[in-house]
Amino acid sequence: MCGIVGYVGNRDAANIIISGLRRLEYRGYDSAGVALSPEGENTLKVVKRAGKIVNLEAGVQKELPTSEEPYAGLGIGHTRWATHGQPTEENAHPHLSQNGQFAVVHNGIIDNYAGLKEKLIADGYTFKSETDTEVIAHLIEACYDGDLRGAVARAVETLEGTYGICVISSLHPKLMIAARKGSPIVIGVCKGETIVASDVSAIVSHTDQVIFMDDGDILTATPDTLDITSLKNVPVSRPPTTIDWDLGEIEKGGYEHFMLKEIYEQPVALANATRGRLVPKEGSVKLSGMQMDAYEMARIDRVSIAACGTSLYAGMVGKNFFEEFASIPTEIQQAAEFRDRNPIVLRDTCMLAISQSGETADTLAAVREATRKGATVLGVCNVVGSTIARETGRGVYLHAGPEIGVASTKAFTCQVSVMAMMAIAMGRTRRLSEHAGQAMVEELARIPELAQRVIDRNDEIKAMAEKYASKNDFFYIGRGYMFPAALEGALKLKEISYIHAEGYHAAELKHGPIALLCDDVPVVAAAPMIPGREKTIANMQECRARKSPVVAIATEGDSEIKTHADDVIWVPDCMEFVSPIPVVVAEQLFAYHVARARGCEIDQPRNLAKSVTVE
Ligand code: AGP
Repeated sequence: MCGIVGYVGNRDAANIIISGLRRLEYRGYDSAGVALSPEGENTLKVVKRAGKIVNLEAGVQKELPTSEEPYAGLGIGHTRWATHGQPTEENAHPHLSQNGQFAVVHNGIIDNYAGLKEKLIADGYTFKSETDTEVIAHLIEACYDGDLRGAVARAVETLEGTYGICVISSLHPKLMIAARKGSPIVIGVCKGETIVASDVSAIVSHTDQVIFMDDGDILTATPDTLDITSLKNVPVSRPPTTIDWDLGEIEKGGYEHFMLKEIYEQPVALANATRGRLVPKEGSVKLSGMQMDAYEMARIDRVSIAACGTSLYAGMVGKNFFEEFASIPTEIQQAAEFRDRNPIVLRDTCMLAISQSGETADTLAAVREATRKGATVLGVCNVVGSTIARETGRGVYLHAGPEIGVASTKAFTCQVSVMAMMAIAMGRTRRLSEHAGQAMVEELARIPELAQRVIDRNDEIKAMAEKYASKNDFFYIGRGYMFPAALEGALKLKEISYIHAEGYHAAELKHGPIALLCDDVPVVAAAPMIPGREKTIANMQECRARKSPVVAIATEGDSEIKTHADDVIWVPDCMEFVSPIPVVVAEQLFAYHVARARGCEIDQPRNLAKSVTVE
């Protein structure tokens, strides 16, 4: 996620901002920049660089004069996690207004930026970047009438979506404005200066007194004053909080591991994955990144999915979507296998390359082979501007924010959500009715809540995980939508706890694997209230007949299932097509707590890399 740092005071703003941005590096980013208001000059100095902060530091040293006195006591800085536009210097923040008198840094996604941009262009504004943020800079200039706070308030009132912004102007050399809606901004309360940041880790080395801004708040800060009001300029009281975290913890937002933080982020990540993309009234979706109109979509006669690992299992869920909701024959292939077997790619084959990192070599090789064979290739990636995203040239980004834990969590659930939307888009050019589409769109709007309800059961799942943490072999079983969920649950356990865990189709057990069952081999059975539940219950009985303990993942209120399981992890009721999401969130927490009970290194498990860039 992007990082913001702003400073107004009498110390060296550049130094404070850059060291603050370093504290935010863990959040993942692909470019960085600062805007400074040099002492005694009515200008803004902007230095931006693609890549890491070390590039920005070199740029600042090169472009700023060296002197004993601070170059600037006012400035804003940003580390960008690209959401709109490639990770380039032009797209890096801060962004300047047309007249160069206003600079803004922004976290969040502006849903209506395209319409605002069109209007600003019609009003004579020119854009240098592909970002939604640059719209805000021009809006502030357009709204400015001498009062910077008022201009920012009027500008953000036209925005739809989420923002956490910090603004400075060459017209107000010791004034900093910040505003938030949906994207955190924290204020560091200090004597003679004010620091703002997107999270506490950039502030805690300066003060332990912080104020967490609320949605709709706007901050006006000078070196000696700090006022928070509503957008309508009504003062609001925000008492400071004392921070007692140590820095190491703060970078994980207080979570013990990035993996747990990212599991807990899923409600927000899932909301971002669908933000601005659902069209309830038409029972459809808006996925402009596919660059495909209805005519082209209606002519797809086969979908071919290539991916690896967790992304492959998400693709298996997606296969059900494209066949069930768009009536399109869909094949799913491990990417290396797809690439090596001289695949049959027909004229109207649409290939989906699913990859969180967008750098997985096997998946990239499959993209290149499919492209050589003339397929239409779309990327389903999380990292904007990644190699797969660039080489496919079109597709749908997850908007899940950086995933740092090696074990993929929020990427899986967001991949499932994105493919459901793609299937709705294709389905609505075929037999998927408006009514059916509306039901699916409404359910997709509900998935953040579904994920949250599982997360709220964390303590129950933790207790259960600790009960089974000493086992050294597990089976995960499921049918239909639950088969890929079983595979993903087994992978999660394997890769972070080093326990031998196998995912199997529930019907497959009796064709061999059942020979391994005994009291030392627990079976996790994914059996929510969807088609296949009864037969999975029969499989659970087969397992228990061989003394294997059974942990069922079942729908809240399913009292019958308790009689067929030793333990039950409850998940909320939902439509079949989204059922893998709450089930896999439960499996993520189960695996996390087993690994934690075994004292494993969870964020960087042995032998694993976050992105496998070798074939
Ligand atoms: C999942 O927890 C693993 N880290 C791994 O299987 C991963 O999903 C796989 O390497 C694919 O990565 P990608 O999504 O970045 O292409």
